[in-house]
Amino acid sequence: MKFKNILVTGGLGFIGSNFINFLFKNKQFTPNIVINLDKQSYYSNDDNIFKDLRDKYKFFKENINNRKFVRELLEENSIELVIHFAAESHVDRSILEPDEFIRSNIFGTFQLIEASKDYIDSNKAPSHFKFLHISTDEVYGTLKLEEDAFTEKNPYRPNSPYAASKASSDLIVRSYYKTYDFPSIITNCSNNYGPYQYPEKLIPLVINNCINEIPIPVYGDGMQIRDWIYVEDHCNALLTIAEKGELGEKYNIGGNQEIANISLINKICEILSSYTGKKEKIYKDLISHVKDRPGHDTRYAINNHKILHNLDWKPKIGLDEGLSKTIKWYLNNPTFLKAKSKSMRDWVNKNYKDR
Ligand code: TYD
Repeated sequence: MKFKNILVTGGLGFIGSNFINFLFKNKQFTPNIVINLDKQSYYSNDDNIFKDLRDKYKFFKENINNRKFVRELLEENSIELVIHFAAESHVDRSILEPDEFIRSNIFGTFQLIEASKDYIDSNKAPSHFKFLHISTDEVYGTLKLEEDAFTEKNPYRPNSPYAASKASSDLIVRSYYKTYDFPSIITNCSNNYGPYQYPEKLIPLVINNCINEIPIPVYGDGMQIRDWIYVEDHCNALLTIAEKGELGEKYNIGGNQEIANISLINKICEILSSYTGKKEKIYKDLISHVKDRPGHDTRYAINNHKILHNLDWKPKIGLDEGLSKTIKWYLNNPTFLKAKSKSMRDWVNKNYKDR
């Protein structure tokens, strides 16, 4: 891996945390220093999950909106690669409280790019400096059952404030490449799951509610389809793109694992029961259909052709294996969910009370 000095934004979030762990776990990659820049929020993981990394890792609690701070950080650490995860990412929160999505996802990305551009323009950045902008398949909007999966050529048709904020940030990155040759790549990934995901998202929510034997809220009929990818597969794709991806391009990343929400929830109940020894019925009886999410996208699906053929990457972990690993992790790390229980209680009151 040619990049030794790496800046990760949002490295205390779900995917960012997994990415940092993946970087160091993988013997192929030997970074000199990984800088984690994160504002810390209700969903953030504890920085001490990286305590074993010691002198190869530095954490800074700061907002990406602080352009001056970011600019100094880039130069002081001779950063070669920026991997930009930092974003507000929960659709339901973006419906109830969109302001922070606009501030962080759009304006924050703009500030980060400006800081990076200034680093380049002042000739302080190495010639191989790269900026990887991590985005989502939600920018493409929704698919009907019979429609083809999203390719990189699909038009942007975001349907939630979250998706619109990510679409906007993608377009800013694109425009900087076109206008200023800003050395960037955009990635659009399908739904991630795995360890360290805050339990407001569907998979950890179902696991958490089963463990606590409280109702599992299913929006509408539960027939909406998502295309799931195990987070480690996503991390691996990102390293492949950092190394081999072409500047100015965008790459879709998906797990090729489409499933309706209700089938996924039933699957989680079955796997969980095989580990806990409790009857499947106990978990499945918790399923409770509630009022649908406004503007709820029916289906997401990623066409992986470009990354598969151009960069020789493919997902390795199937849905059953990934779910088993994930469920085992949550069972073996009960303090993770416990630590989130207070902030989750507030969220449940806000989002589910009137449903
Ligand atoms: P989520 O994890 O919020 O991801 P996204 O909306 O970004 O795809 O939700 C995944 C799917 O699960 C989505 O179709 C909404 C649905 N869902 C529920 O049915 N109930 C819930 O309580 C949540 C959080 C999600």
